[in-house]
Amino acid sequence: MEMRKRKLEAQDGSSNNHYTAPRATKTMNRPNRTNIIMIIIIGIAVLVYIGISMGLKPVRMGSKALDRLAFSLNLQKPFYAVIIDAGSTGSRVLAFSFHESIINSNLILDDELFEQIKPGLSSFADNPAKGAESLEILINKAKTVIPKSEWQHTPLSMKATAGLRLLPKEKANKLLEECEKVFQNSGFLTSKNSVSIMDGTDEGIFSWFTVNFLLDRLTPQSHENTVAALDLGGGSTQVTFAPDSNHIKDQEKHIFSINAFNNNISIYTHSYLGMGLMAARKAILTYGQNLEIEENTPSAGSKVEIRSECINPIISTDWSYGGVNYVVKGPLNGTHKVVKTQNFGGVDEDRPVVRFAECLQIVRNYVGTIVNKPLGLENREIMAFSYYFDRATEVGLIDPFAGGVVTVGTFLKQATESCDYPNTDQPFICLDLTFIYVLLRDGFDLQPATKLQLYKKINSHELSWALGAAFNILQNGL
Ligand SMILES: *[C@@H]1O[C@H](CO)[C@@H](O)[C@H](O)[C@H]1NC(C)=O
Ligand SMILES: *[C@@H]1O[C@H](CO)[C@@H](O)[C@H](O)[C@H]1NC(C)=O
Repeated sequence: MEMRKRKLEAQDGSSNNHYTAPRATKTMNRPNRTNIIMIIIIGIAVLVYIGISMGLKPVRMGSKALDRLAFSLNLQKPFYAVIIDAGSTGSRVLAFSFHESIINSNLILDDELFEQIKPGLSSFADNPAKGAESLEILINKAKTVIPKSEWQHTPLSMKATAGLRLLPKEKANKLLEECEKVFQNSGFLTSKNSVSIMDGTDEGIFSWFTVNFLLDRLTPQSHENTVAALDLGGGSTQVTFAPDSNHIKDQEKHIFSINAFNNNISIYTHSYLGMGLMAARKAILTYGQNLEIEENTPSAGSKVEIRSECINPIISTDWSYGGVNYVVKGPLNGTHKVVKTQNFGGVDEDRPVVRFAECLQIVRNYVGTIVNKPLGLENREIMAFSYYFDRATEVGLIDPFAGGVVTVGTFLKQATESCDYPNTDQPFICLDLTFIYVLLRDGFDLQPATKLQLYKKINSHELSWALGAAFNILQNGL
């Protein structure tokens, strides 16, 4: 009951970007249809009314897929799952609450708590106890939304992603050990697998599941309705989709057969380690430079200076990656260019700019190291999130609250504009947009006209692999 109140508040005050799937209630607004349609509408209205009066979400009603899942799970209501996402740039907690529909036994996602903390767990490589402490803060946040009596039945799981994958094994293990201690004393349901480094395959599949679950695309026998999930993290990037059968044989290594609501679906998933936005930045910035950098050894206040063709000549900015502190600058022999401005008076302006062709070549060389491209990705609708979404909002391509649709080519156009614009507030925007464009175009073979749907939330739920992981734990145990 308490969760429900919070849910209403959260929806009223929901500030973030979300995609709203078509709801049954929208149908009722359509005027002047035939009598048959009127009858159907009245029927839906009655069902929706029942749904609302019992506190259910109308959008989830009538989903047979969910019905079957709830049946196979045999779950009581309400119940919870707590997932901690230990990413390379920060740690997040998601506390989900579900219940079983009284009408049709559907499994319904009611609410989630989402909180994050920076920096990521991997930044505590030399102080693992402190790292575990940062997770304890998040666990305590989850405790505020879950009744104490339920803690012992609520699975708690932490999955670390690329940040920890890239750490030396010994340091990563020390961190995991400290986290395990915190977990065992948390009061939540844990097992020896509660704390782990997730492989990129699971990350991709869980994200894909989350997206398709929230969009209600997991319909029987129809992989064609499913949506591809593109996730751009800090260290790695994931591409996950249900390919057509002619694209399954030639990339079998990346095909996984999953059971989603009794549908046996073949999924392609590939995690490209090193193609996360921050890992790519580092590779692009240091391209062609012989730097003696030892990562993950504290550089005791010293900074490594790097100059890059992808950085505007006026920029000098601090940047840290993999425990190394950099001062990032544009090239010494930077170029100026006369750019037409839309200023009043239409005066031409002589601006320091990034040599776009040179930068593009460096980015292409890096992305060109991708050998196994996803085949058949262009046949699916594509949903892209995380850094794809963040960068697109930062340059105004989409509304940060509503999200939106852009083409691959839009990223190129925006990149060329941003690279012509000296902007000390967004020192990496030229590089980031150029990388995103090249990744989509050359790395994943998408066409300039291919559309990408960019959202952070769907029906006010976070787009993250964590929901898929929660389902997996509820279905298969910790
Ligand atoms: C799902 O399909 C794959 C490939 O067709 C097959 O190998 C697998 O056994 C099937 N799994 C189930 C549970 O039917
Ligand atoms: C700028 O300097 C770099 C490194 O010295 C050199 O490779 C490049 O050709 C120069 N570019 C121009 C346009 O002068």
